[in-house]
Amino acid sequence: MLKLALADCQSRVDAVLAAHIDALPQTAPALKAAMRHGALIGGKRIRPFLVYAVGELLGVDKAKLDRLAAAVECVHAYSLIHDDLPAMDDDNLRRGKPTVHIAFDEATAILAGDALQTLAFEIISEADAGLAPKAQVAMIAALAKASGYLGMCGGQALDLAGEGKSISLEELTRLHNLKTGALIRAAVELALIAADASDADTAALRAYADAIGLAFQVQDDILDITATTEEIGKPQGSDLDANKSTYPKLLGLDGARQTADALVADALSALAKMPYNSQLLADFARYIVARRV
Ligand code: IPE
Ligand code: IPE
Ligand code: MG
Ligand code: MG
Ligand code: MG
Repeated sequence: MLKLALADCQSRVDAVLAAHIDALPQTAPALKAAMRHGALIGGKRIRPFLVYAVGELLGVDKAKLDRLAAAVECVHAYSLIHDDLPAMDDDNLRRGKPTVHIAFDEATAILAGDALQTLAFEIISEADAGLAPKAQVAMIAALAKASGYLGMCGGQALDLAGEGKSISLEELTRLHNLKTGALIRAAVELALIAADASDADTAALRAYADAIGLAFQVQDDILDITATTEEIGKPQGSDLDANKSTYPKLLGLDGARQTADALVADALSALAKMPYNSQLLADFARYIVARRV
């Protein structure tokens, strides 16, 4: 069920993303091609999956969720393009392909990230989005906050500042919650806004998002050590090379795995608080820490 749902989500969101990018005029062809490279070549689409799975659980029509899924993926794609730049993680492989600054050049990669970020907000705010204006504003605010200083960018700054230093587990948890957790939470938040969710559902699904958001980055840290470059499609050992603090570095591999498992248990108990059949989200939480990609 999960495999099918993930595949369905990938094709749906890819179609929405492609429609938006391909509709752009050919005024800057290299920039447009770089945006396509960063947004449309591969990727698990786990943030879009969360938009669809949470939205549908709460009775929102899939078509109403398409834009939200595409918007959060645009921000994610931008964050990866910039994350790989020489000034940041300096990686040359992503999703099994050359990173955007390698396939194009650094300036184009910076601009492709910038343009994908702003495209996200265009996609949500368009008049024909079929969303109530009040909901659109709330969605824009949630996505902006999760992406900026108080979210992903703030976390990336802490990540870079922590290179070559030993930081505490508490600091690392905060950093991971910001750099990766915030955008995963935003995916859930967009669906909650679209559904006009009750306070009880909102609390349960936010707790779920918090737990899987951190678990996702813990597993990413684990894969940096345990997976091959072929499996993850990005350079294995990138964290080690940059002397980053990671969960396995601070807790050992077994300790990191135990943390990931405990977070999945937290996610499952958050789901159990809701009166719905949330099997798909439960399977997704388990997949987050079992994945090899
Ligand atoms: C990688 O994200 C960066 C992190 C936040 C850990 P994903 O693992 O979701 O990357 P893609 O989109 O599937 O390539
Ligand atoms: C990236 O974390 C988080 C982002 C905000 C993009 P990583 O640097 O660990 O992601 P990967 O391992 O390069 O995908
Ligand atoms: Mg990084
Ligand atoms: Mg990186
Ligand atoms: Mg990583």
